[in-house]
Amino acid sequence: MSALLQVRNVTKKYGGLTANNDISFDVAENEILSVIGPNGAGKSTLFKMISSFTPTTSGEILYRGERISNLKPHIVARKGIVRTFQETTIFKSMTVRESVVVAQHLRAKASLAGYFWGSKTAKEDVAAFGRYADELLEFLGMSGISNELASNLPQGNLRALGIAIGLATDPKVLLLDEPFAGMNHDETMRMVDLVRSVRDERGVTVMLVEHDMPAVMNISDRIVVLNFGEKIAQGTPSEIQNNEKVIEAYLGSADDEIGM
Ligand SMILES: Nc1ncnc2c1ncn2[C@@H]1O[C@H](COP(=O)(O)OP(=O)(O)OP(=O)(O)O)[C@@H](O)[C@H]1O
Ligand SMILES: [Mg+2]
Repeated sequence: MSALLQVRNVTKKYGGLTANNDISFDVAENEILSVIGPNGAGKSTLFKMISSFTPTTSGEILYRGERISNLKPHIVARKGIVRTFQETTIFKSMTVRESVVVAQHLRAKASLAGYFWGSKTAKEDVAAFGRYADELLEFLGMSGISNELASNLPQGNLRALGIAIGLATDPKVLLLDEPFAGMNHDETMRMVDLVRSVRDERGVTVMLVEHDMPAVMNISDRIVVLNFGEKIAQGTPSEIQNNEKVIEAYLGSADDEIGM
């Protein structure tokens, strides 16, 4: 396995609370790796460190062998490590297509001044952004709603828009924090297919945090399990389902939303 991303002995402390303790694992190029664990286990914290939205307390994260932990988040995003947000609030006053166009500015070639003065490069970029937005929306099966206001979208479409916005920045690694939350079975299955095609057809490596165990078991190549900030297991879905420590962690957890 050639590691695309390496999490090396990463610890995160919030004051006296250890949210992640000495976590290590590798992510291979083109795999779908899920991080699971009971509420408060430290999953979102780990994603925030990988995308550099919060610094590590110790340890390091490498991307293609290069240290990326504790760089500025926009630098990490430019390298292609992109976290999607649960709420796409910033884009809600725009249409679906406009949101996807704007998201591409992250990888824009023209300078800001170029945009201001309407330079040739800027105009070419804007036209190209529109074409790519249409292509992405078609790929995601969202062409029919491209002119809808984001604020009018139902939950499932809003989540798909979050993925479209993430994809618009041309990511190499997409981090999805609870992409299936609040979705019914059919919506979840559609999203599972969509995430898989993002990997299969766009060559994007996917990491996701999810509580929906049937979906996790269906979509994941490998799973890392956290409990109280510790990594307690990693393996294939069938290995994880039969892991004593994992079963214990879930049976011992107070809220019983895990249908393993
Ligand atoms: N900014 C913060 N300041 C202080 N403590 C925090 C902060 N963010 C998270 N924590 C704490 O760190 C621990 C891990 O939180 P985290 O959000 O990573 O858990 P999680 O596994 O994503 O949980 P959930 O499944 O509920 O989303 C929790 O005890 C949480 O209260
Ligand atoms: Mg979380």
